[in-house]
Amino acid sequence: MAAIQTKLLSADAEGISKASALLRDGALVAIPTETVYGLAADATSDLAVAAIFDAKGRPTFNPLIVHVASLKEAEKIAEFDADAIRLAEAFWPGPLTLVLPLKPGARISKLVSAGLQTVALRVPAQAEARAVLKALGRPLAAPSANPSGRISPTTAAHVIEGLGGRIAAVLDAGPCSVGLESTILATRPTPVLLRPGGLPRDAIEACLGSPVADRQEGEGITAPGQLTSHYAPKGSLRLNAASARPGEVMLGFGPVAADLNLSPGSDLREAAARLFDCLHMLDAKGAKQIAVSPIPDVGLGLAINDRLRRAAAPRG
Ligand code: TXA
Ligand code: MG
Repeated sequence: MAAIQTKLLSADAEGISKASALLRDGALVAIPTETVYGLAADATSDLAVAAIFDAKGRPTFNPLIVHVASLKEAEKIAEFDADAIRLAEAFWPGPLTLVLPLKPGARISKLVSAGLQTVALRVPAQAEARAVLKALGRPLAAPSANPSGRISPTTAAHVIEGLGGRIAAVLDAGPCSVGLESTILATRPTPVLLRPGGLPRDAIEACLGSPVADRQEGEGITAPGQLTSHYAPKGSLRLNAASARPGEVMLGFGPVAADLNLSPGSDLREAAARLFDCLHMLDAKGAKQIAVSPIPDVGLGLAINDRLRRAAAPRG
């Protein structure tokens, strides 16, 4: 792909209107969401969606999340069962993605769902993402705006670092507030957690009034977030480390001696919001061996530990 000049758009009315115009023309624009920056394209255009896979170097069998402005728009694309309606009403807009049966005749490029009969849908909470969706009046397909297999971006600078020269523009609204990708859930035939994320599992279980099952290995599609090595920094990670060994850089959590700390006050929300930025910073420092403090396996800690385990996994 020939290098193009990636524009940095500001998060004001002018930036939002430029981003929408580019997207309407089939270009790729990275947009801020409350979870991570997404690499957006018009979900109704085969050409625009194909360009996402090309820019990310993403295997085409991995389907994409479709972002819409409201539950009403989502209902034009997928079949909602009672659990799905209840979850959407409780948690949208927000960091929850629902995998549901695709409605026959929905105006969504087949590339988005990679040939599956289901579609992943989300209504983002970030004001700028909502403004772009409203101005465009079309659904947006958007994976995280990073080269395939690399750390997800939580700032416009992370996006430029990974995809600068390959995409038309980035709409810069500062750092993402949640900082981890959305929680992905399929509701049929019974609720199954496909990826832990920014909405804690216990919130979903409390809303449904019943436990949510885990995805069984080898079941259904292989999603990139479910591949063993993913979200990978360049250095190697040692998890559950009490302190750094010689030659290691310490990524702390809580009141420990550390080079970088996810949350000195042991706040999981803060740690989630800072995780990818800290991994990007360690990459920028050229850290080769990274020791990471233990993170409690509760609430958002489940999703943080999921990302850390994948980042620590042997590279294929
Ligand atoms: O927070 C997020 O979810 C961000 C922002 C941009 O919205 N997006 C994101 O997208 O993380 P991505 O492409 O990096 O991850 C999407 C995940 C993948 O693991 C993909 O395989 C899964 O969603 N997925 C998409 N459609 C699916 C389907 N029909 N069935 C099962 N999994 C699906
Ligand atoms: Mg991703």
